[in-house]
Amino acid sequence: MKIAVLKESKTGENRVALSPSVVQQFTKAGYVCTIETGAGYKSNFADEAYTNAGAVIASTKSELLSSADIVAKVNAPTDEEIGLMKSGTALVSYLYAAFNPDLVKKLAEKNISAISMDAIPRISRAQNMDAKSSQDNLAGYKSVLMGANAMGKIFPLLMTSAGTITPSRVLIFGAGVAGLQAVATAKRLGAIVEVTDVRPETKEQVESLGGKYIEVKTEEAVKVEGGYAKEVSAEYLAKQKEAVNKSLAQADLVITTALVMGKKAPVLITEEQVKLMKLGSVIVDMAVEQGGNCELSELDKTVVKHGVIILGQSNLPSTLPQNASELYAKNIFNLLSHLSTKDGFKWEMEEEITKGTLITHQGKAVHLSLVQTA
Ligand code: NAI
Repeated sequence: MKIAVLKESKTGENRVALSPSVVQQFTKAGYVCTIETGAGYKSNFADEAYTNAGAVIASTKSELLSSADIVAKVNAPTDEEIGLMKSGTALVSYLYAAFNPDLVKKLAEKNISAISMDAIPRISRAQNMDAKSSQDNLAGYKSVLMGANAMGKIFPLLMTSAGTITPSRVLIFGAGVAGLQAVATAKRLGAIVEVTDVRPETKEQVESLGGKYIEVKTEEAVKVEGGYAKEVSAEYLAKQKEAVNKSLAQADLVITTALVMGKKAPVLITEEQVKLMKLGSVIVDMAVEQGGNCELSELDKTVVKHGVIILGQSNLPSTLPQNASELYAKNIFNLLSHLSTKDGFKWEMEEEITKGTLITHQGKAVHLSLVQTA
């Protein structure tokens, strides 16, 4: 099978779907990889590295797509790219199908078998295919560095002959993959770290990294489905506010990562709460693309409100393109090795990973979420 890797065209995207080391793995397994010239440049992978790994470089998208059996991308294809794909091609990329009905329609009409990297089921055997985890991990690390850079003070305790500098206080909302990496990174830099999450099992995880878990005093049992926390009640959110406000008022850096699958991100910091914060303190809102955990954050902007610096940059993994592309490529390799061989796809429609990730197939939208809502 022939895998084509396109240069990403979305503004601000520095990643690429396959790295040279993963091309080498595919080549060894009998697949043929074709890469659009310059596709890996922003991830620090030169065309030469791909040819050394066994790939062929193509200079135009039409040349690549007219012969591809599989198209590997980070972001969903453009209309032009879909137009150039041949009927029956398999596509692997982020699709966010539930939010992009037009895209799903176009892919079905073109008879593309579209596999979505944002729909990997949360089961142990799919862990090495889970792009959300691999990318969130890097984003969590970067959020701390960005926050540290915007702060007017350092993280660690520092004793100098002029006096002692006390450590910075970091407050993290959400202890999923991104949040836990943020805890570990902020601890390594010497901060005092506090964390709030609605899933009680995160207490132990936070404490094992040296963070302090903020207890919310409630009888409400938070529902978790498929590894994702469900929405909590307004009463819970009010109690959570009460529990975190003291830490919020003391924090030098706040990182918010809280998400609820398929919903707008919960608002966990209102304007009133921002007013409680110290002058010059920083919020990094990692949920900004899903509407934001802070009421005042703005997508892809840094704003200063009530003396607090609020960073709303989206797509943090793209700021670490070399690592992010390498891990994303490994996720794709693990997924495709499960779904296909060098000779073709298995299309086992009742198998959990196939069923979870396949969005369109044989001219139709086939994903359960789309079929049910259609
Ligand atoms: P996520 O990105 O969906 O959400 C981030 C965090 O926000 C979660 O910990 C969630 O509980 C929290 N949150 C939601 N509402 C909140 C609120 N009101 N206040 C504070 N926090 C709130 O979560 P992520 O990072 O994807 O991981 C969730 C879990 O799933 C983890 O335990 C992770 O290890 C597991 N997981 C399992 C996988 C597998 O088995 N293949 C793959 C990926 C994650």
